[in-house]
Amino acid sequence: MTDPAALPVIRRGDFEPGFLWGCSTSSYQIEGGIHEGGRGESIWDRFCERPGNIRDFSSGAIACDHYHRWPEDLDIARDLGTGAYRFSIAWPRIFPDGNPARPNRAGLDFYSRLVDGMLERGLQPWATLYHWDLPQALQDKGGWTNRDTVGDFVAFADLAARTLGDRVKHWITHNEPWCTAMLGHAEGAHAPGLRDFRAALQACHHVLVSHGLAIPALRAAVPDAKVGITLSLHPISPATASAEDAAAARRHDGLRNRWFLDPLHGRGYPEDVMELLGHRAPNTQTRDAAAIATPTDFLGINYYFPEVVADAPGEGAIATRVVEQHGVERTAFGWPVSPEGMVTLLERVQRDYAPPRVYLTENGSTYDDVVQPDGSIDDVQRRAYLARHIAAARDAVARGVPLKGYFAWSLLDNFEWAEGYVRRFGLTHVDYATQKRTLKASGRWYRDFLHG
Ligand code: FCB
Repeated sequence: MTDPAALPVIRRGDFEPGFLWGCSTSSYQIEGGIHEGGRGESIWDRFCERPGNIRDFSSGAIACDHYHRWPEDLDIARDLGTGAYRFSIAWPRIFPDGNPARPNRAGLDFYSRLVDGMLERGLQPWATLYHWDLPQALQDKGGWTNRDTVGDFVAFADLAARTLGDRVKHWITHNEPWCTAMLGHAEGAHAPGLRDFRAALQACHHVLVSHGLAIPALRAAVPDAKVGITLSLHPISPATASAEDAAAARRHDGLRNRWFLDPLHGRGYPEDVMELLGHRAPNTQTRDAAAIATPTDFLGINYYFPEVVADAPGEGAIATRVVEQHGVERTAFGWPVSPEGMVTLLERVQRDYAPPRVYLTENGSTYDDVVQPDGSIDDVQRRAYLARHIAAARDAVARGVPLKGYFAWSLLDNFEWAEGYVRRFGLTHVDYATQKRTLKASGRWYRDFLHG
């Protein structure tokens, strides 16, 4: 096994000068201020209230208090030397009760100030519209399982773009639709906490349609907008050389990756998966496939880990099981560390789909950080993870992948969904008792790399 702290030789100069470097965050994970500025309730507020849903019984009610401390946070991003900052817009700050006829000025003003703050610091704003915080009022009407939410999302995209589009040119419609659908509606692990595979597929379809229908609205409001979607993708391989495992890996890839990549690239849902789903397949309308395939300017990929899959008759929705590999390096989350997997994935996406431009919109790791007596955090494993994945990004570019940028997850430690504050992914440590921010060794490495 590679020494988990060993650093590859990598310099910023290995990338073309225009390559974009950034950090990512999302609204619910950092903002707090859930009752401020007229914000309405989100499905995550509600989900966190139910004991057992969040590992440490926490919520994003305060989180990193970014709602008040954003100038300091943007200073950190600027000082790192990043050129871009990916954030998300909390829908319930814009439409507190979900009703597109009742926008909330204070919410729009918050993001307007935030965007101005980025531009003042030389940070290119990359806005994600949906990073999982649906207004609870829309959930009460079925949320993503209800087709009406598609229109509500388009109204949200339209107003956000009309308000911020003079300054925000990069728009991501959705973050990781697989998670929205499967973690939120099939596994019950994320808000809204449903356990219904059929509902998950329907929600997933509506998310994809809403992506497609939001694009013309974004372009109408911002003629020079660059629009894309961010998918969580995984390289998938079979556990053994058996025909059964090979078929299982293909099914798994079908639902994890092709289910999104195929329709977004004009091929409709993959036939083998549709067949597998049978009566569970989502209800669709005639023009949906064309809407989902609306051309975009880039594909955002969040890369964390590969999956090794075995045939598992009778298990789960598609009879597959992710097999734990022994002797594999892992993060504290248990996620395998595989920079090579990232290269494999990027090359595969390029070979099979040829998106015009690709951005890694998230990549990062969690480890059990120890704060030293002098207050420093020597997160050598996260530092190595970052450096090795940046080296992998360089390798992917060398192999012809039109990769144009890399966003580290995350600028700050934050509320890691069902894991609460147990998992820290930040390049910056957050002391939640005092809200003190401290750049970790990984953040210092990124800063030195970017200034190199
Ligand atoms: C991704 C999410 C992001 C964060 C990281 C660790 O799936 O997009 O919000 O939770 O995982």
